[in-house]
Amino acid sequence: MMHVAFLLLIVFTDGASSKKVCSYQDVVDYLNLTTDNSVFKLTRPVLDYKHSTMVELDILLYAILAVIEKTQTFVPFIWVTMMWNNERISWDPAQFCGITHISVPREMLWTPDLFIYEMIQKDDSPHNPYMYVSYDGTITFEEDVKVVSTCKMDVHKFPFDTQRCNITIGSAIHCVNEMRLLPSSNSSRATQFSREMMKSQGEWEFLQLSITSYNFTFNDRQWENLIYTFTMKRRPLLHVINFLLPILFFLSLDLASYFIADHRGEKLGFKVTVLLAISVLLLILNDILPSMSNKTPLIATYCIVIFALMLLSLLETILVTYLMEKDSVSREELRLRDKQEKVKIDNCNAEEKRLTGCLCICTECDGEKQHELLPVAEEVNNSIQPRESHVLLLILEELKELQTTLNLHFRCRQEVGKSGHWATKINRAFFIFYVTTVSLFLTLIFIEWNT
Ligand SMILES: *[C@@H]1O[C@H](CO)[C@@H](O)[C@H](O)[C@H]1NC(C)=O
Ligand SMILES: *[C@@H]1O[C@H](CO)[C@@H](O)[C@H](O)[C@H]1NC(C)=O
Repeated sequence: MMHVAFLLLIVFTDGASSKKVCSYQDVVDYLNLTTDNSVFKLTRPVLDYKHSTMVELDILLYAILAVIEKTQTFVPFIWVTMMWNNERISWDPAQFCGITHISVPREMLWTPDLFIYEMIQKDDSPHNPYMYVSYDGTITFEEDVKVVSTCKMDVHKFPFDTQRCNITIGSAIHCVNEMRLLPSSNSSRATQFSREMMKSQGEWEFLQLSITSYNFTFNDRQWENLIYTFTMKRRPLLHVINFLLPILFFLSLDLASYFIADHRGEKLGFKVTVLLAISVLLLILNDILPSMSNKTPLIATYCIVIFALMLLSLLETILVTYLMEKDSVSREELRLRDKQEKVKIDNCNAEEKRLTGCLCICTECDGEKQHELLPVAEEVNNSIQPRESHVLLLILEELKELQTTLNLHFRCRQEVGKSGHWATKINRAFFIFYVTTVSLFLTLIFIEWNT
């Protein structure tokens, strides 16, 4: 940015050539620019106090360093150019070997007292120490500033959101009649330049830079402000991979757990584990998002509804497990009762054998089905010799036992149905409800996210 310290010019006079050496110092001396010359520093550089100082301002975006939703902070790295006229400065370049501008330290001349309203932290990056001074009195000042600013962000659609952050520039004390602020490039030019200059974009995609002028009135005094609005869109990929997809995966695991058997609480354990995994993910969300009172972020709705659905499915599993448990208890009771009955039958049979020594079926103990065996048994008894009949008797006894067991088993299966049947019914109905709700909810929320 700096020019060569000395500029040589050869002046030809009357055929005899003599070298005239010009330096910036000549200009500085001519202007009486010294560090202790208060004329240039103390007051606004106008000859007539009624003149207003026109400050032409240009801001371009270099990089978006950070956008922090939690603290509502926007940190852009911007390039600021200011241009204004100093009426006390002018020289004729022809007298100074054509020197049209010099650079002087910032402290030597008056500078506009511009500041950024949203800035919450002093910029500690190194300042550019020089300014350009033109022969017609135009002063040019350039600087790179890292602005740590507050920005009201709307995280309703996080992570598919677009944020707009303002940087408002105005004079601290000079009113609109003393100092005017003019943007030197319009919105579309600033946008295009910023796009060309931006090197790294990171998570945020820069969309637009728009400039508006605004007169701020307070106590009958007016200040002119320039508002630079940066519009940027978040690239959601990281959050989708880190957050939305894992929750979806856990949800589908929870859905798939329908096919795990209800017995012995295995399903219950599985569901609790999945629910715990989701709550860990919720902690991450807490780190990212600010606590908002006006509008709930969609992602919070997404998490809470999925969490609630999974909780509901866990409760349903508990209910079903309870029913199954109750069922197995009643089955146990039934088994006990049947065992007692069997003992009774056995006792009865033993008595018969003792009394008659031949086939007799105890009427007190047998069921209706045992009657069917009677004719067969009688036939067998009639046609076959007593010795062989003893063997047959044993076989018959075995058969009888088998039949009772079968009966018992049959009855068992029917009795189990009572609460077990309910459990299966509840399970199926809930699964249908679950799948429907989940698909409906996901469709709705993704539509909301996209619009
Ligand atoms: C600089 O100061 C000298 C005397 O101190 C004065 O004669 C001269 O006019 C001044 N130059 C300007 C440009 O004001
Ligand atoms: C602000 O005030 C100045 C001076 O009165 C005027 O020229 C300018 O148009 C005003 N700007 C806006 C945005 O109203």
